[in-house]
Amino acid sequence: MADPEALKRRQQQTWAAGDFSMIATQQLLVGELLCEAVDVHPGQRVLDVATGSGNTALAAARRGGQVTGIDFVPALLERGRERAAAERLTIEFQVGEAEALGFPDASFDVVLSTFGAMFAPDQERTAREMLRVCRPGGKIGLATWPPDSLIGEMFRTVARFVPPPAGARPPVLWGTEDRLRELFGGAAASLRAVRRPIVFRHRSVESWLEFNRRFFGPTIKAFETLDPAGQEALSRAMADLMRRGNRSGDATLVAPSEYLEVVAVRARGA
Ligand SMILES: C[S@@+](CC[C@H](N)C(=O)[O-])C[C@H]1O[C@@H](n2cnc3c(N)ncnc32)[C@H](O)[C@@H]1O
Repeated sequence: MADPEALKRRQQQTWAAGDFSMIATQQLLVGELLCEAVDVHPGQRVLDVATGSGNTALAAARRGGQVTGIDFVPALLERGRERAAAERLTIEFQVGEAEALGFPDASFDVVLSTFGAMFAPDQERTAREMLRVCRPGGKIGLATWPPDSLIGEMFRTVARFVPPPAGARPPVLWGTEDRLRELFGGAAASLRAVRRPIVFRHRSVESWLEFNRRFFGPTIKAFETLDPAGQEALSRAMADLMRRGNRSGDATLVAPSEYLEVVAVRARGA
């Protein structure tokens, strides 16, 4: 793998580009359903890893959790603070890294991550950190993109034009039960994974592409590395994929996909 620090800086700059909070507001259900799946109890200590603008942290706080959200993009945390203030919810948002969580062992009853931890380059270390800060008997809840989902295919489409860093393991491995069992299985008393639907909606495929190019950091960075012909080809490939997934039957985009919702219980002896 390339220099891990340089890779981290690059990833941080990638997620800091655009404004993921604009995308996140279209995915509120995922955090809400995840908090139901892990069955957050009022008063529980909850950590949301790679919280972004706080979707899942907010969902946990709405259920009475004592919530901390960490992310390595300060501007997204600021959005989370604004959203929490608007709902009169108390959430501690801190700058932090998924691979090195700044909390003592067993600090939380519940550790969550929605489409977040899966992007950290060192997958084993990230999983170990999530397990470490979760108390024995506590729960880990994840939402991840499977490789065979529309979004998994979108990542592969972009990777055809802009190859990922050499040696990096694909984030979508976190969307497979086999890999999750490798990462968490030994330390988990149980691990349950279910596929859930998620639908991408926009006024049109073209407006979706424009929105994605404006607000989604990884797309912005991918386009920056391409010359005009490459940009044109990538635009076409992304739009074609969305068109193939479109089930609206009219000029709008209504593209169903799936994600994996995972709940693991940390074994007491682990
Ligand atoms: C797809 S967004 C999801 C954000 C949020 N969990 C949500 O569901 O709206 C991915 C988030 O992971 C964060 N992230 C990626 N790698 C990270 C890392 N190594 N440490 C901390 N945050 C990270 C990004 O800054 C971004 O906010």
